[in-house]
Amino acid sequence: MSAHLNLSCKSPTPELKPPKITIMWRNLGTKRSISKSRHGWWRNVPIAPKDPILGVTEAFIADTNPNKINLGVGSYRDDEGKPVVLQCVGKAAALIDGEFQSGESDLSFVTESVKLAYGENSGLMQERRVAGVPALSGTGACRLFAEFQRRFQPESSIYLPMPTWSNHHMIWRDALVPQRTYRYYDSESKRLHFAALMNDVKNAPERSLFLLHPCAHNPTGIDPSEEQWREISHLFQVKKHFPFFDMAYQGFATGDLQKDTKALRVFLNDGHLIGCAQSFTKNMGLSGQRVGCLSILCADERQAIAVKSQLHQIARAMYGKPPVHGALLVSKILSDPDLKALWVHEVKGMVDRISGMRTTLHGKLEKLGSSVDWKHIVKQIGMFCYSGLKPEHVDRLAREFHIYMTYDGRLSMAGVTNANVDYLANALHEVTKSEGASSLVVSLPKAPIAEQTLPILADSSAQWEEFFDGDSRQDFIVD
Ligand SMILES: Cc1ncc(COP(=O)(O)O)c(C=O)c1O
Repeated sequence: MSAHLNLSCKSPTPELKPPKITIMWRNLGTKRSISKSRHGWWRNVPIAPKDPILGVTEAFIADTNPNKINLGVGSYRDDEGKPVVLQCVGKAAALIDGEFQSGESDLSFVTESVKLAYGENSGLMQERRVAGVPALSGTGACRLFAEFQRRFQPESSIYLPMPTWSNHHMIWRDALVPQRTYRYYDSESKRLHFAALMNDVKNAPERSLFLLHPCAHNPTGIDPSEEQWREISHLFQVKKHFPFFDMAYQGFATGDLQKDTKALRVFLNDGHLIGCAQSFTKNMGLSGQRVGCLSILCADERQAIAVKSQLHQIARAMYGKPPVHGALLVSKILSDPDLKALWVHEVKGMVDRISGMRTTLHGKLEKLGSSVDWKHIVKQIGMFCYSGLKPEHVDRLAREFHIYMTYDGRLSMAGVTNANVDYLANALHEVTKSEGASSLVVSLPKAPIAEQTLPILADSSAQWEEFFDGDSRQDFIVD
């Protein structure tokens, strides 16, 4: 049977009737040339590098050992190692069930999210200076901002802390924004490298854009103190820098949602214009719903209207609008005093469980007589312990003990439970037996990485290795 393409069309007048053209597909090429072109389209596509978190999770799932532990995952787990649906979420779901899901819900979601980040009484909402839009979770909020930055500050770079969540590098890379890094972590002392951070902020050209983790820094679990935030904010004023806060763990640093916004408060009190990406993935356990908010504090209402219109337009071409169900859940929880109180209580419960596990794990390692100084397990905050374990330790833990984590030695404390903490402590002790007290040191570049646009198309591991100072395993920092 031959295929015909009939290009004839109905003409209003018989005289203008176009000639009937019939194309015989059969005559358009030989079988050989057709099959060649059919197979030739995507020959140039290399396999993308394995996703670091999926790699860890895949290995964990494939392992049949009953003692296996997954410490790679960046989401909360209960003391049985199970994902949790918060009670407030269950109750909110019952309440919104059957509600008319109109576009109006966006309005209250953004308002409630902004109040949560900027403060109930900050007055900024009344002044209508905040341009806020719903986003596809924290990742989507960062991506939207990166795109906005490229369009409206096309000459600018983004300064990322070293280390940071590895996806930050890829988000700004794909938005074609050049990247620089600023120093954050001192591997030797396992503390914030405050002097180096201030130096890099000072030496950046005036009016640079910086990404800051306002609380529970991923992966180091180390935040500046309030006094240090004040100094950072002051220096930002002097240098006229723009702070973009990526707040993926509000509540997870101190267990108190309001206390965790102290960095934003300091900057707002100093009169900065700021940007903020919020995620409800971790603190409401809404990983599958992809709920987030991007907000930009502007100089006045007119500017906020313009910025918001541009953010909407960028999102429209990328994905239209985010799904509404998760946003409805969040706005219900944030606007209902009882549900909000329940949520605050549940966040505290998650954080208390994690910090209890820190104390237990540390105590067990001390009891075992470990030669390594593990104090950082209890000093660090948030969901992670940036352990300092080297890739060879991580390999051994997986091979011999069926314990999985990312190659940068970051342990998700949410995966530690009363049932597995003894086994974990023993394994950590075993693989570090030959190490001295201060030998668990993460190797990070000593100086900030110079401005560069990361490889845009093929992520060849050689290019990544070069970026990560010869150690491609640095890219195992994940969610
Ligand atoms: C620092 C940081 N920002 C943003 C995100 C994005 O999270 P999500 O897109 O799941 O909300 C994460 C996730 O792990 C993160 O660690």
